Amino acid sequence: HNHIDHATPEKVKRAIEAGDTHARLTDYEVYETYAKAGGYAALLKLREDGDWEAVQSQMLEAGLRGLGGAGFPSGKKWGFVRANPGPRYLAVNGDEGEPGTFKDRWYLERTPHLFLEGMLIAAWAVEAERVFLYMRDEYPAVLEILRREIATLETAGIVTPGYVELRRGAGAYICGEESAMIESIEGKRGLPRHRPPYVAQVGVFGQPTLVHNIETLHWVARICREGPQVLNATEKNGRTGLRSYSVSGRVAKPGMYLLPAGSTITDIIDAAGGMAEGHRFKAYQPGGPSSGLLPASMNDVPLDFDTLQPHGSFIGSAAVVVLSDHDSARAAALNMLRFFEDESCGQCTPCRVGCEKAVKLMQADQWDQGLLEELSTAMVDASICGLGQAAPNPIRLVMKHFPEEI
Ligand code: NAI
Repeated sequence: HNHIDHATPEKVKRAIEAGDTHARLTDYEVYETYAKAGGYAALLKLREDGDWEAVQSQMLEAGLRGLGGAGFPSGKKWGFVRANPGPRYLAVNGDEGEPGTFKDRWYLERTPHLFLEGMLIAAWAVEAERVFLYMRDEYPAVLEILRREIATLETAGIVTPGYVELRRGAGAYICGEESAMIESIEGKRGLPRHRPPYVAQVGVFGQPTLVHNIETLHWVARICREGPQVLNATEKNGRTGLRSYSVSGRVAKPGMYLLPAGSTITDIIDAAGGMAEGHRFKAYQPGGPSSGLLPASMNDVPLDFDTLQPHGSFIGSAAVVVLSDHDSARAAALNMLRFFEDESCGQCTPCRVGCEKAVKLMQADQWDQGLLEELSTAMVDASICGLGQAAPNPIRLVMKHFPEEI
């Protein structure tokens, strides 16, 4: 997870020339193709005579929720930000760091302009004076695509030069936490801030800031172009909408699958071509390590926002990792805690010391379950941000569902 490729333009150019597949530019939809098919007409029309509240209603009607993983209603955020006097900013969170998550990359490497148009519509909706686009450095091809296409938008007169500022992250998981990202944008070390105040009130350089994830903005453009039914027309298992599942692990065809939000793990494994040969389904991570691990027997829960909370988990960014009878749930949970230990920013004691102690306790032949539970409670109750609050999920879920392994 710590692959850091400081993607300066020169370095990316050299990597692309050298045929580095990681840096390879995909055959993405360029500005001319997108604009010819009606792209940017929605944005230009809104800028001319649009009513932001009408667009906000469309977002609410579509049921669009924050697809970084928290699922906060996107339209509502616009209202929170607008309630505060300007100057206001838009900060786009492209720090897709959750292990197993690659949907934002998938969209950016194929249809970057749907995202860019959505970004400019959201910026228009809150009258943002500037846009900070924070993109992880581990996606060199994406950075190059964005550099090229933002320059094209400037030439085409869709944005004024400098309005959108592309910022590179430097490989820290914590910089995807919105307030740590804002600190990083301001040029400081990425340490999460206390809430309240929310970033909608006090964000970049102390100003009201709208923070959206890449995929959320992709859907903002699609809702404006195709109407709220692009999301709300799909229903399954009592859930409405679509989810971009990043599927990896022991499946035949790992990849990004856009499926109804009411899909169960059975549907997702089916979409990914079934289990890999010689593997029997044992467990799954529904939405990144912070969502922990669930057993194969929980195969009838729709993997959507709100449905996993009663089970001590959540869907988050929908990073589904499938484990088989070849894998150890205990080893997977230890790996997750090692990741959190490594990525903890160290600012607060419950997370910094908690992750370290948890790793030590999980390395013992037999887990001290009482102590691990006590430690988990302290971390959940007292950590400043989501990292430390969610880190105990893998511990608790393995204690609950895989007691024979620990
Ligand atoms: P959150 O639910 O605390 O906040 C979500 C958003 O709503 C934030 O922008 C927050 O400012 C806003 N918000 C919430 N209540 C508000 C209020 N009363 N007034 C104004 N604004 C308000 O969730 P958080 O901590 O931002 O994100 C946690 C999620 O991030 C988890 O679900 C996790 O899965 C996901 N995540 C995703 C990663 C990725 O790579 N995509 C990496 C790590 C975590």
